[in-house]
Amino acid sequence: MTQHKIKLDVTKIRSDFPILSREVNGQPLIYFDSGATAQKPRIVIDTLTNYYLHDNANIHRGVHKLSQDITTKYEEARATIQKHLNAQHIHEIVFTCGATDSINLVAATFGKKFIKAGDEIIVSEMEHHSNILPWQMLCEETGATLKVIPINDAGELKMDEFKSMLSNKVKMVAVTHVSNTLGTINPVKEITALAHAVDACVLIDGAQAVPHMKVDVQNIACDFYCFSAHKIYGPTGVGVLYGKENWLNKLPPYRTGGGTIKSVSFNKTIYADLPLKFEAGTPHIEGGIGLAAAINYVNKIGLDTIAAYEHELMEYATEKLSEINGLRLIGTAKNKASVISFFVDGAHPFDIGTILDKQGIAVRTGHHCTQPLMTCYKIPGTIRVSLAFYNTKEEIKKLIDALNKAIKMLN
Ligand code: ALA
Repeated sequence: MTQHKIKLDVTKIRSDFPILSREVNGQPLIYFDSGATAQKPRIVIDTLTNYYLHDNANIHRGVHKLSQDITTKYEEARATIQKHLNAQHIHEIVFTCGATDSINLVAATFGKKFIKAGDEIIVSEMEHHSNILPWQMLCEETGATLKVIPINDAGELKMDEFKSMLSNKVKMVAVTHVSNTLGTINPVKEITALAHAVDACVLIDGAQAVPHMKVDVQNIACDFYCFSAHKIYGPTGVGVLYGKENWLNKLPPYRTGGGTIKSVSFNKTIYADLPLKFEAGTPHIEGGIGLAAAINYVNKIGLDTIAAYEHELMEYATEKLSEINGLRLIGTAKNKASVISFFVDGAHPFDIGTILDKQGIAVRTGHHCTQPLMTCYKIPGTIRVSLAFYNTKEEIKKLIDALNKAIKMLN
């Protein structure tokens, strides 16, 4: 294998991910779609299996041993997440169905309580639809206005324009930490400080950030931060909303039902304290525990080591891709996580993606749920290579060969 400068035992890491040894279309799988969903290490798969084999019971609802034990494990998982994000309090960690669900929770409850006609909500041009649509709907319902921070050609936020948009009309700034399409890492700490200076609340969509870097919510000082488990090597269908205690306490419940209450009568219901007020119904128990297993796995390797290795891979891939005639990189920010989008003149991304698939290479093609961004770049979509720490330079070399073949076929 090619020597990497960063000390990371990729062969050992790859052996932790059973799916990486399968073939696709008769070729060894090369998985470059971790931005859509990351593959799962055996420890996460085993955690899910063991839950069903040995531990299955409902949480917060039983005096029997199984229920008590699994409640403890679930709450330990919450503590693992609190520590991982450096949240001040454990009750600031709310389990949700994923980043999309977390943003919908905040938009619905914050919107109900704090947004009225004439207010402004700011998002950015590079947002995933998940961080546009809940705010757009809220604006339509309330008469508030949605404002958009534009980006420059490299795919970086125009911070001067952001500053000029800020006023006391702005009630919420909702931006992504890392763009799923461009890989741009946004200056979320600075954005938060600027928004707070006009008393606006800040939500950061961390779905594409948490797999690649250490996130410290107290250091960012944002009011809300969210992510999905499945992008950080955990199970699908579960995610996290971090919210500052004072904000979460001010918000009304989102979905109501079992688990969210202290007492119910037909005259009046008293809702539970944080975080249970926001966790209606039987949750994704094994998902929460599986997420903690994923976080522990990643932390054992070390997020700084992961980030450095992925950065080395990204620089190598960017250099090799740049040598291909007619290939245009989309997203060339100075500060980037390991996502590389590109467009090839005269070839539709779907066609390239299909030809790559025949060679066992999985990339994502299309608009990546960022249609406004595609409009900004005047392209129908991109080919996106999203790298993880189980990828290698050998895989990138195979991608470049396969891409050259695909381009020859299509021209
Ligand atoms: N949001 C995921 C992606 O970027 C699905 O692919």
